[in-house]
Amino acid sequence: MGQDAFMEPFNDTLGVFQCKLYLLLFGACSGLKVTVPSHTVHGIRGQALYLPVHYGFHTPASDIQIIWLFERPHTMPKYLLGSVNKSVVPDLEYQHKFTMMPPNASLLINPLQFPDEGNYIVKVNIQGNGTLSASQKIQVTVDDPVTKPVVQIHPPSGAVEYVGNMTLMCQVEGGTRLAYQWLKHGRPIHTSSTYFFSPQNNTLHIAPVTKEDIGNYSCLAKNPVSEMESDIIMPIIYYGPYGLQVNSDKGLKVGEVFTVDLGEAILFDCSADSYPPNTYSWIRRTDNTTYIIKHGPRLEVASEKVAQKTTDYVCCAYNNITGRQDETRFTVIITSVGLEKLAQKGKSLSPLASITGISLFLIVSMCLTFLWKKYQPYKVLKQKLEGRPETEYRKAQTFSGHEDALDDFGVYEFVAFPDASGVSRMPSRSVPASDGVSGQDLHSTIYEVIQHIPAQQQDHPDCLKA
Ligand SMILES: *[C@@H]1O[C@H](CO)[C@@H](O)[C@H](O)[C@H]1NC(C)=O
Ligand SMILES: *[C@@H]1O[C@H](CO)[C@@H](O)[C@H](O)[C@H]1NC(C)=O
Ligand SMILES: *[C@@H]1O[C@H](CO)[C@@H](O)[C@H](O)[C@H]1NC(C)=O
Ligand SMILES: *[C@@H]1O[C@H](CO)[C@@H](O)[C@H](O)[C@H]1NC(C)=O
Ligand SMILES: *[C@@H]1O[C@H](CO)[C@@H](O)[C@H](O)[C@H]1NC(C)=O
Ligand SMILES: *[C@@H]1O[C@H](CO)[C@@H](O)[C@H](O)[C@H]1NC(C)=O
Ligand SMILES: *[C@@H]1O[C@H](CO)[C@@H](O)[C@H](O)[C@H]1NC(C)=O
Ligand SMILES: *[C@@H]1O[C@H](CO)[C@@H](O)[C@H](O)[C@H]1NC(C)=O
Repeated sequence: MGQDAFMEPFNDTLGVFQCKLYLLLFGACSGLKVTVPSHTVHGIRGQALYLPVHYGFHTPASDIQIIWLFERPHTMPKYLLGSVNKSVVPDLEYQHKFTMMPPNASLLINPLQFPDEGNYIVKVNIQGNGTLSASQKIQVTVDDPVTKPVVQIHPPSGAVEYVGNMTLMCQVEGGTRLAYQWLKHGRPIHTSSTYFFSPQNNTLHIAPVTKEDIGNYSCLAKNPVSEMESDIIMPIIYYGPYGLQVNSDKGLKVGEVFTVDLGEAILFDCSADSYPPNTYSWIRRTDNTTYIIKHGPRLEVASEKVAQKTTDYVCCAYNNITGRQDETRFTVIITSVGLEKLAQKGKSLSPLASITGISLFLIVSMCLTFLWKKYQPYKVLKQKLEGRPETEYRKAQTFSGHEDALDDFGVYEFVAFPDASGVSRMPSRSVPASDGVSGQDLHSTIYEVIQHIPAQQQDHPDCLKA
C-alpha cells in the first residue's frame, strides 16, 4: 500500500478496507487524511523548493478542492493558489512563483527567495456525501549555503608554552544562520579550563597554551542547508626541553654511569623533546674545573686519550625561544678490564678472528694426530731411516734441527708441535685476520717439517691447505 494511493478516491471495497485499517492503526476513521513527509523544509535561496503532500479519502467524491495559504509570524495568512478537480486558480500576484498540478496537492516554489520563508498551509476539501476537510502546515526556511571557512591564528608566529595565549578565528564569507564548531584532530572541542569560545563560537581562545594544544585544528561552519570545514591549521607552540637523556652507542649504562673498555671510542647522544630543537652543549668536569668541550647533540670520547679513569660530563640542552634549559650529568668509567686486555693483546680481538684461530688450530691438530698415528710405531720409521744412506739422513737431520741424536729424528718433531705453549699461542697469534701473517707462518712451518721427511711428502697436502 503506497502513499500514492491516498491521492485517488478509493472504490467502495478498498475504501472500507482502508477505513478498517485506519481504525486498527489510529483508532479513528476521519475519511480524509492529509500527510506531509516533513513539517520543516530547508530551502536554498534561488533554487526551486518542492513541498510534497499526500492525501486520501474513503467516500465517493464529486469535487476535490486544494488550497495553499502562506503566513508569516504576526501577519494575516495570504492566499497563494487553489484548485477544484483539475483546474487551478492562482493568486495573480504570485502566479509565476507557485505551481500545483491537481489532483497532486504538492506545491512547487520556484525560485525560492528570503521573503518566501514562513509557514505554508495546505487545505484539502472533499465534496461527496457531505464535505470532508483536512489541512497541514509546513515551515519553510531559506538559506544561502556556507562557503569554505578560513581560520586565522593570532599570533601567527606562535606562542610560548604557559606564557602565551592563542586565538583562532573562523571566517566565512557566504552563508546564513551560521553555526561554528571547532575540531581538533576531527573531534569537537569543548569548553575547558584553557579553551574559551566567543558567544557565536566563531572564535576559540586558548589561554595559556601548552604542549598538549599542539594539533590539527579546523573550523566547521554549518547551517540548515550545508556545512563546510576549513583547512587544517597547526598552531606553533614553543615548549621544552623535556625528558633530557644521554645515550651511547657502546659501553654499559647503569644509571648515570657509563662503563667503557679502554681503547674504545664512544659516541654519546644527548636528546630532549622541545620546539624549536634545543641547542646542546657538553661540559667536562675535572678537578673542580669545567670546560665546555663541544656544541651539538653528539659527543665522541676517545677513551684511549682519557687520562683519568673516571670523568664527569654534563649535557646541557637549551631552548632559545622558551628560554628554558635542562642538564644531565653522567660519569664515564674506563674499566681496568679493558686495560688488561690491552696489555695482553695490544689489540682487541674480534669474535670472527677468534673463531678463525680456533678452527685453524683444530684442523692442524687433527692433521698432526693423523700423521702421528700414521708413523706409529716409530721404530719402523727409525729402521727405515737407519736403512737409508747416511747422506739422505743427514739432509733430513739438517732440517730437523737436531745435532746428533739419530733416534730422535722425525717423531719428536711432530709430537712436540701441538704442546701447551703452542696451544695457547696459536689462536692469539693467528688472529688478526687482516694481516694473516702469523697464520701463514704456522702453515709454512708445518709444511716444511713434513716436506723434509722424504717418503711421506705427498701424502696429506689437502689437510694442510685448509
Ligand atoms: C506530485 O508531483 C510531483 C512532481 O511535480 C511528483 O514528483 C510526485 O510524485 C507527485 N505526487 C504524487 C502523490 O503523485
Ligand atoms: C469534478 O469532477 C467530478 C467528477 O469527477 C464532477 O462531478 C464535478 O462536477 C467536477 N467539479 C467541477 C467544479 O468541475
Ligand atoms: C451519506 O451519509 C448519510 C449520513 O451521514 C448516510 O446515511 C448515507 O448512507 C451516505 N451515503 C452514501 C452513498 O455513502
Ligand atoms: C593570556 O590570557 C590571560 C587570561 O586570559 C591574560 O591574563 C594574559 O595576560 C594573557 N597573556 C598574553 C601574553 O596575552
Ligand atoms: C558553542 O559551542 C558549544 C560547544 O562547543 C555549544 O554547547 C554551544 O551551543 C555553541 N554555541 C553556539 C552559539 O553555537
Ligand atoms: C595532522 O595533519 C598532518 C598534515 O595535514 C598529518 O600529516 C597528520 O597526520 C595529522 N595528525 C593527526 C593526528 O591527525
Ligand atoms: C673543589 O672545590 C671545593 C669547594 O668549591 C673545595 O672544597 C675543594 O677543595 C676543591 N677541590 C679541588 C681538588 O680543587
Ligand atoms: C635558536 O636556535 C636555533 C637552532 O636551534 C637557531 O636556528 C636560531 O637562530 C636561534 N634563535 C635565536 C633567536 O637565537
